[in-house]
Amino acid sequence: MSDLEGLFADGDAWAAAIDDGDPVVYTVASSLVPETDRELPQSITTIEPGTTAGEFWMTKGHQHPDHQGEIYLGLRGRGGLLLFDGTETRFLEITPDTIGYIPPGWAHRSINVGDEPYSFLAVYPGGAGHDYGWVLEHGMGKRVHAGDDGPTLVGFTR
Ligand SMILES: [Fe+2]
Repeated sequence: MSDLEGLFADGDAWAAAIDDGDPVVYTVASSLVPETDRELPQSITTIEPGTTAGEFWMTKGHQHPDHQGEIYLGLRGRGGLLLFDGTETRFLEITPDTIGYIPPGWAHRSINVGDEPYSFLAVYPGGAGHDYGWVLEHGMGKRVHAGDDGPTLVGFTR
């Protein structure tokens, strides 16, 4: 949780969660494939179930500085893929066997919208790079909150 500074809408709730034991929100297991041009590194991300002030637990999110596409595959649980190109936000629900495609240049963040761990495989171009600061600066256009009828996208807040 402490690694997610500045990302949840409610900073007080974020700080309280750290005081309350700084829980693991997500983990990433990466392949040993080099992050260089022409290679296809892979990783498996697991996001724990939970919310911070109603906002589903999520990854930091990033953009690839060298705009290239990326593939996700749902493995376990129920999640979502939030995509943002700086103007438009898209949300794709990802369940086991769902393929999520991230078009070149779109920032992306994953969210656990279920009540068990959510895992997905990512395969990405090794030379694309990762820019986490882009999301801190621009946000993702929408946030995903736990609503009475499931995941609810709420308006523009960083
Ligand atoms: Fe990515």
